[in-house]
Amino acid sequence: MPGDRRWIPDDMDPARPSHARIYDYALGGGHNLASDRAVFDQLLAIQPRIREMAWTNRAFLRRVVLFMVESGITQFLDLGSGIPTVGNVHEIAQKANPACRVVYVDWEDMAVAHSQLLLERNPLATIVEADITATGRVLGHPDTLALLDFDQPMGVLALTAGHYVPDSLVWDVFEAYRDAVVPGSMLGISHGTDDVAEVRAHELINTTATASGGALYARSRAEITRLFGDFELVEPGLVTPAQWRPDRVSPSTGHPTYGCYWAAVGVKAVGVKAVGVKGVGVKGVGAKGRTSALQ
Ligand SMILES: C[S@@+](CC[C@H](N)C(=O)[O-])C[C@H]1O[C@@H](n2cnc3c(N)ncnc32)[C@H](O)[C@@H]1O
Repeated sequence: MPGDRRWIPDDMDPARPSHARIYDYALGGGHNLASDRAVFDQLLAIQPRIREMAWTNRAFLRRVVLFMVESGITQFLDLGSGIPTVGNVHEIAQKANPACRVVYVDWEDMAVAHSQLLLERNPLATIVEADITATGRVLGHPDTLALLDFDQPMGVLALTAGHYVPDSLVWDVFEAYRDAVVPGSMLGISHGTDDVAEVRAHELINTTATASGGALYARSRAEITRLFGDFELVEPGLVTPAQWRPDRVSPSTGHPTYGCYWAAVGVKAVGVKAVGVKGVGVKGVGAKGRTSALQ
């Protein structure tokens, strides 16, 4: 939408960088401001391959969505969805199956405004403006309930989103989303880590947090695995985004062992066979186990 400035909310403080817009700039998007680009330049000085890391995460997102659709998932809850860019969840999912429904969730003004514009004519996708830690608000929002059927399996996505949530909340937040969905549902996560020493994730995180005023929390392999609770991780388990089921359609960028994220997909098991997953079911059984998260 060239020339359309509706994606810049009136009350936005342009001097204050935002995580969503810094990430948009890393991906080569056009929805960012000078303050975001200044932070990104600092990050680039620490890690010259940071753009590659962002694209590797987007390629992971594409493969995760396709994997879920191929496994029978037709509805998605995308937590911390970000500013729309190339290869959004609804575009990937609806191309594979036009019946797919998507609810995006973000709290950043520009991410919400631009998503609303993009989705104006898409009755099967919407954005809910909310803090993902307000799980009751997200899960009980009228727009969420209008599009998503919590009696059917769902794909919950939290890609590069969990590391914005502090330890005091993160375990309960992920538990609430896991509890809200029926067996056969899937959870996809990529999450910042300091485990991969050569990436200097700690410096990247500190620089981003200091410049934007929003804290980030790198977590270890064990902690990120804990976010999946009793969901069973599909092969190859928790790996770097580039290592997760690389394919020819959506090739990963970056060296396979390189990156400051761990990534995986887990399934809420029901004990029946899954598509491409050893001994794990993906077909829902229609259990009604979601109300505990609806506070
Ligand atoms: C790095 S972007 C990730 C975008 C997309 N998920 C991806 O992986 O390509 C992280 C997004 O999470 C959003 N975010 C962070 N904390 C949030 C919170 N508590 N509630 C809602 N959105 C949040 C930010 O606004 C940003 O748009």
